[in-house]
Amino acid sequence: MSTRPRISTRISSISESATLAVDAKAKAMKAAGRPVIGFGAGEPDFPTPGYIVEAAVNAARDPRFHKYTPAGGLPELKQAIAAKTLRDSGYHVEASQVLVTNGGKQAVYEAFATLLDPGDEVLVVAPYWTTYPEAIKLAGGVQVDVVTDETTGYLASVEQLEAARTERTKVLLFVSPSNPTGAVYSPEQTVAIGRWAAEHGLWVVTDEIYEHLVYGGAEFTSIATAVPELGDRVVILNGVAKTYAMTGWRVGWLIGPQDVVKAATNLQSHATSNVSNVSQAAALAAVSGDLSAVAEMRKAFDRRRQTMVRMLNEIPGVLCPEPKGAFYAYPSVKALVGKELRGRRPGSSAELAELILEEAEVAVVPGEAFGTPGYFRLSYALGDDDLVEGVSRLAKLLAEAR
Ligand SMILES: Cc1ncc(COP(=O)(O)O)c(C=O)c1O
Repeated sequence: MSTRPRISTRISSISESATLAVDAKAKAMKAAGRPVIGFGAGEPDFPTPGYIVEAAVNAARDPRFHKYTPAGGLPELKQAIAAKTLRDSGYHVEASQVLVTNGGKQAVYEAFATLLDPGDEVLVVAPYWTTYPEAIKLAGGVQVDVVTDETTGYLASVEQLEAARTERTKVLLFVSPSNPTGAVYSPEQTVAIGRWAAEHGLWVVTDEIYEHLVYGGAEFTSIATAVPELGDRVVILNGVAKTYAMTGWRVGWLIGPQDVVKAATNLQSHATSNVSNVSQAAALAAVSGDLSAVAEMRKAFDRRRQTMVRMLNEIPGVLCPEPKGAFYAYPSVKALVGKELRGRRPGSSAELAELILEEAEVAVVPGEAFGTPGYFRLSYALGDDDLVEGVSRLAKLLAEAR
């Protein structure tokens, strides 16, 4: 009998997506008839706009789309993504600098796989989205956390980044608006961070998937455009999921210098080949069209954001800075951890989240999933009534904490 492990060391080190796990547990409880309200999902609650669906239906009928197409994406979609990037970010790229991926997630994976050698360090601002650590680890990279908290609205400073930089640092991961915190860097902060990265010859991988979801006075700034000094050491990750309510269609993209895009396309050509042509046709309609659908969603999200933040801050022991983008609130619940609640004493935000799911039938994602215990992430991409009912249940239960 071989004593070799059944599952490779590399793959067994990957953990389940905590956000998807919470969502799955909530959905299973719901299916069993329990009235669970889920704040776990990272997706808009709107359907994909009709004209995008129509484009997909037409594509499904076209025999051209029944065959393999180039691994890196339909040429017309790559062209449209380049044009959209110029329109939305003022960043000029050729179609050959675009790689169409199976969702933003594949773009994250391929970016790190393409840039990192074993031991290369990546600066990651915590709280961070759950997929980044796994993608960095799979590439052999070493994640170096730059931890932020509610006192700065979860924004990292140049000083903090500099303190974490070593000779092995190759990449800065820059995510604004942020999942899970909703933090948005101002144009000035973006320029300062980008210039610092350029000065030290770092690559910047920037995830712009929430670019169109900013609220109040906040402004989205593409670090690629704001800091021309970065030269060609910038990789942009993006996709249609959040802007066009298209999470299930699985279309994202990676934009970078020709050599990076060529190498990442080689990887993709062996891993998955082309993204489904029907989905690419839908994405083409999305990025070629206007932004009126996202403007509508933004209005609804903004209203829900304000309701949620107000209600959360009214709960004793909960502290929630105002999120400026994406569709998540990230309150601190540190003051509630260790308190007695319904005969139990949850010793972590993960245990508290479990108790809340059981006792109040409300699903939240604990901060442990994002590298910062003591917090919850709540998505406000759900209906207004459910949102109010869910946070009210949370308030009622947490009021019993002693
Ligand atoms: C910050 C961030 N980047 C990328 C993605 C990937 O989205 P998708 O793979 O659905 O395109 C997500 C999804 O939750 C996200 O929150």
